[in-house]
Amino acid sequence: MEKMPYQPHLDQPAPSAISSNWRDALPVLAGKIVTLRELELTDAPALFAMLTPEEVSRFISPPPTTIEGFERFITWARAERAAGRYACFAVVPHGMNTAVGLFQVRQLEPDFATAEWGFALGSAYWGKGMFIDAGEMVVDFAIETLGVRRLEARAAVVNGRGNGALRKLGAVQEGVLRRSFFKNGQHLDQMLWSILSEEWREARAVFGRGIVH
Ligand SMILES: CC(C)(COP(=O)(O)OP(=O)(O)OC[C@H]1O[C@@H](n2cnc3c(N)ncnc32)[C@H](O)[C@@H]1OP(=O)(O)O)[C@@H](O)C(=O)NCCC(=O)NCCS
Repeated sequence: MEKMPYQPHLDQPAPSAISSNWRDALPVLAGKIVTLRELELTDAPALFAMLTPEEVSRFISPPPTTIEGFERFITWARAERAAGRYACFAVVPHGMNTAVGLFQVRQLEPDFATAEWGFALGSAYWGKGMFIDAGEMVVDFAIETLGVRRLEARAAVVNGRGNGALRKLGAVQEGVLRRSFFKNGQHLDQMLWSILSEEWREARAVFGRGIVH
């Protein structure tokens, strides 16, 4: 059978625009106040200290409970990146060498057309603009490098900061996933948020930044 010629879709990057180098190693992305880079095994003690306190972990999937557990997570994250299914960035504020949080993106279908992202920062670093700085770079990376067309996020409805941060970045609230998240013996409702590549690019073209409201 004769092969169909390639037909570009306006809302999808041409295949050549999607880099596959990230599978070898994640790029270093420099923002205004933070740098994003690949997780290193040496990040385990800092991430343990940043992400295990109750105020950080109460609305997210349980993080590892030991430094060794974080080392295993980092080894897993790098293997999943090499397999092309997942990307996890460490957040390092300018002027520091240690990670204060992480942003992750995982594919929900092969080739990342639909993906889900999540993020957490140590509480001492909340409210300082690091979420927006890192978040914009991660969404750009997801759309322009991974080829994501629809980026989903789930946040427990009671997670004021998580939902506030997503709203601020321009994510669109789609609905409530009833009793979808089991945490501390309770089934919590979650808000489903999405960012579409065409909306993100349009906002970038007009404002030079994300859809920040
Ligand atoms: C989610 C997280 C990375 C956001 O980073 P952050 O630095 O706290 O985010 P920001 O302060 O930039 O933005 C949060 C916004 O929510 C707002 N907010 C805070 N509490 C709120 C509440 N109860 N209801 C509504 N909005 C709230 C803040 O005012 C802020 O908006 P503003 O800058 O316009 O004032 C961080 O809070 C975190 O790591 N939380 C723990 C892990 C987590 O919950 N991850 C998200 C899973 S979806």
